[in-house]
Amino acid sequence: MRPTMVAGNWKMNGLSADAVHLTQAILSAGLEQLRPEVVLFPPFTLLHAVSQEAKGTALRWGGQNLFWEANGAYTGEISGAMLRDMGCRYVLIGHSERRQIFAESDDLVAHKVKAALTSGLIPVVCVGESAAEREQGTTEQVLQRQVEAILPLLNRESNQPNLIIAYEPIWAIGTGLSASPEQAQTVHAFIRNLIAGYSSQLAKKIILLYGGSVKGNNAAALFNQDDIDGALVGGASLIAGEFIQICRAAE
Ligand code: G3H
Repeated sequence: MRPTMVAGNWKMNGLSADAVHLTQAILSAGLEQLRPEVVLFPPFTLLHAVSQEAKGTALRWGGQNLFWEANGAYTGEISGAMLRDMGCRYVLIGHSERRQIFAESDDLVAHKVKAALTSGLIPVVCVGESAAEREQGTTEQVLQRQVEAILPLLNRESNQPNLIIAYEPIWAIGTGLSASPEQAQTVHAFIRNLIAGYSSQLAKKIILLYGGSVKGNNAAALFNQDDIDGALVGGASLIAGEFIQICRAAE
C-alpha cells in the first residue's frame, strides 16, 4: 500500500495571525494518528509562523515555489537552501498558476525540480490540462509532455521515488467543479503508466495527488480510486474544518 498525503496550498492568502490560528486548529485535530502525511504550503512570509507551531509534530510544510540558484543577485527570489533553512521538506513546482501567469515552461519546471532535489527538498510537481485542451482531446498529449519533462529526474538508482506528482486539471481549480473520481482515476492511471515506462518499481511507489476543487464532501470518493494517493487542496485548505475532513477521508 502506498503512503497517502493531503497537502494544503494556501496560495497568496493569509497573515501571521491566520497562519497561527489555522496551524493550531489542524494540529488540534490529532494528526499524529492519521495515516496521510499532512503538509502545508503557506506563502513564504508565513513559513516561520507555521514552522514555529508545527515543529516537533507530524505536520510538515513546504514552499510554493523556488529559484534554482542557491544565492546571489536575484531580487525577489527564494532558493531551495532558504526553504530548507525554514524547515521545509517539500516544495511545489510547476503549479498551473505559475505556468500560466508567470510563463513557466516545462524546461523551467525541470530546472527547478533539479534545484529542489539538489537542495534536499521533495518536489511536488503539478501537471494538468486546460479546459480547451480537454475539449480538443489533447489531455494525454499535454500530460505526456509535462511528465516526460521531469521523468529523467526520477532517481532510478533508488527504490523510493524522489518526487511527487499532483494532477490538477486547470478547469477544476477554484471552480467548484472537481474532476469526477473516474475522470481523475483515468488520468492518474495514464500518468502512472507513463512512469512505468521509465521504472516499473518507481511507478508502483510514486505518490500521485489529485487537485482541483477537493472538498470535505468529495474527497473520499476521489481517494477510493486505485491511483489517487491523496490531494493537493487549495481553497478548502484555508478552512480548518474542511481541511481536517479531507485529511480524515484519506485514512
Ligand atoms: O494547489 C491547489 C489547487 O490549485 C487546487 O485549488 O482546491 O481551490 O481548486 P482548489
